[in-house]
This record gives sequence, C-alpha cells and structure tokens, in this order.
Amino acid sequence: MSKEGNSNIINRNYAKMPGSYLFAEIASRITEYLKFNPKSDIIRLGIGDVTRPLIPSVVLAMHKAVDEMSDNTTFKGYGPENGYEFLRNAISENDYKKHGVSVEPDEIFVSDGSKCDCANIIELFSDEVKIAVCDPVYPVYVDSNAMAGRAGDFDIKTGRWSKITYINCNEENGFLPSPEELKGEIPDAIYLCSPNNPTGTVIGYDELEKWVNLANKNGSIILFDGAYEAFISGDYPRSIFEIKGAEKCAVEFRSFSKTAGFTGVRCAYTVIPKSLTKNGMSLNSMWTRRQSTSFNGVPYITQKAALAVYSEEGQKEISENIKYYKENARIIREGLKDCGFTVYGGENAPYIWLKTPNSMSSWEFFQDLLDRTGVVGTPGSGFGPMGEGYFRLSAFGDVEKTKTAISRINSVYGIPK
Ligand code: MLT
Repeated sequence: MSKEGNSNIINRNYAKMPGSYLFAEIASRITEYLKFNPKSDIIRLGIGDVTRPLIPSVVLAMHKAVDEMSDNTTFKGYGPENGYEFLRNAISENDYKKHGVSVEPDEIFVSDGSKCDCANIIELFSDEVKIAVCDPVYPVYVDSNAMAGRAGDFDIKTGRWSKITYINCNEENGFLPSPEELKGEIPDAIYLCSPNNPTGTVIGYDELEKWVNLANKNGSIILFDGAYEAFISGDYPRSIFEIKGAEKCAVEFRSFSKTAGFTGVRCAYTVIPKSLTKNGMSLNSMWTRRQSTSFNGVPYITQKAALAVYSEEGQKEISENIKYYKENARIIREGLKDCGFTVYGGENAPYIWLKTPNSMSSWEFFQDLLDRTGVVGTPGSGFGPMGEGYFRLSAFGDVEKTKTAISRINSVYGIPK
C-alpha cells in the first residue's frame, strides 16, 4: 500500500462537487441508453454543439495557413499569447468600432474558448470575492468558483452554494435577471449571459444599464458572456460596452464557436478594458500576466481561420449558417407551442426553454422524452434549482432531424386536435 502523505495535498473543494459536469452526465446517460437500445435513432438536441460544417472562406484560410506553416520562410512558432495583431485589429474594427463601440486591439485577448476564459478569469479575484449568478445558469460559472473554494458549501436540499448570491430568473420575471433579485446583497462579481444560456432570453438596454449602474455604484465587476450575440436580430445590446460606463466595470466574453462553427476548432476572445481597475490594479495587465504565464496562444492556423470570418464572403457565409440555426429555433419554438408547451427563448438565441408537461421533473422528462421519442435535450435543473420543471432544446441540429424531433414530440405529447 502506498503512503497517503500530507493530508493537505489535495484541493478538497473537489470533494464538495455534486455529481459530474452536466453535459458529461448527459453523455453518459445516452451511452447507457444506447447499450440497451442499440438500434434507437436518437436525435441530439442537448448540448449546444454546432452541426453545420466550417464555411468555405474559413476552410480556404486554414489551407493557406497550413501551407505557410510548411514553408521555412513563413513558418511560425510560438505566437503572441494575447493573439496575433491581425485578428485583434479585425475584432476591434468589425465587432466593436463598426457598431460605434470603442474597444481597442490591446483590450482584446484571443483564446481557445469562452468556457475556459469564464472559468479562468476568477484567478484575478481574491478568495474572499462574493459572486452572484443567475439561477438557472451556465454551470461553468458556478463550478469553477466552487472548485476554487469561493462558493462555500453545497446544500443538497436547496441545490445552492452557501457563499453564492443567486439572482432568481423565473416565469414571473420572464427569466430575465433583475437587480432587485439581489435582495440587497452587493456582490463583487456578477455573471450575466445574454442571449442567455439556458433560457434563450435577452437583456434589453434599460435592464443592462441598471446592471452597469449598480456595478459602478458599488465597485462590482460584471462578467458578461456574449457567446450567443450573433443570434440577436431585435433591438438588444450585443455588447455590454454599448452601455455607458461599462468600460469601468465589465469584462466581456465572445466566441467563434456558435457564430462560425468553431466548437471543434477552438477560438474565442475576452475583452478587458484598460479603464477597468480594482484596488489600484489593472485587470487588463493582470490578465496579460496570467495569460503569458499559463497560455501559449491560439494556433496561427486557427487565428487565420477566425480572421476569414470577417471577410465579405465569410460574413455572408456565416450569416447563412446563423439563419439556418434560427430557422431550427423557430421550428422548435412554434412546433412546441402547437403541442401546447409553454416556451421561452428561441427568437434571439439558439436555445428554447420549455416547461415540462404534466409537472414532470426535468430529469423525469429527460428520460421520458428519450424513451418515447429518442430525442435528447438538457434538463433545466442541471442549470440550477430554478430550472427544475424546465427543459432546454438546442437549435444547433440538422434541420430535417429537428423537424423529425418535433413531429415525434407532437405525436407523444401533443394536444389532440
Ligand atoms: C451548452 O450546451 O450549454 C454549450 O455547449 C456550452 C458551451 O458552450 O460550453
């Protein structure tokens, strides 16, 4: 038997984690289901993973970049940790300045994913930081804090962590986070996601302004996840930096994953304004220090691919893909409404949030839906206790399969006409 060693070797916060990561749990339930139903023709509308192939402009740019890497005159080794200038300039110009928002290239940090950035950003905060999240919420914000010991203890009865402040999002407030839901608590860091994962709702200008004002008044930081911005077609803020004063209190996460089908390619970016300082320290400089220590940058080939998204052709091609997914969202939303479901989201977001039928719990519905229709979705309770009794469907599937999924759901749960 080997010696146990020092009893403080291990980060014991991991022992407090309830269950496994939501999407890992779903994947293992599907594997289990397929073991007993190997012929089942399942349709996956669970994890928000894209299905359209990379656009031609991106593929061409990648091929060219591979050729450059194979020639000793153009070969590249380590790149700049924060991203090549060509990509940071293109992001600053196309995603911000073109829309009247001032974000400079040296405020942009190119990375391999918003999920990693959302999880890693907490390294900039002290152990005492008080965080607030929406409930329901993308589990990464909570789990990363819990693993770092900033969430306190998990209460199995309430499904909540003792040190986290929860912003209730429910049917009464249309699943939109409102500062009133802080109930007087003043958090140091507030995670907001719009368009929202999982509910598919979008924060309007007035509401976002309330959050920015609250943060500036109290010295809090807003961690704004804008990974689904490309799905907005109405008059909603696409960036928190459209709101006056946000440059003093906000960090924004954006991604090429859902916009340009990069879930398997991996490229995203985080904006940290130079004017964002806390306790006399610049978060922009801190993140530069953190990234240069712990990260070696995104591959040149990937950054060239991301650059191609901003070409005229690239923009046309990605908007076709977004249109495709938005049509899926419409099919799901309208189809479910016809079946008699109560639904949210899906108009400016790729997620449709529905109330489970017959008061089933989220996991009961997950199993029932899988057993009776072969459709896979995501249980709302996996996003927090307020998600109990709700369920999320993703619009990132194939359109024909999405139609089949809705017709199967209709034949099992639909209201007889
Ligand atoms: C989801 O299904 O919620 C997303 O795929 C999560 C992610 O982007 O990591």
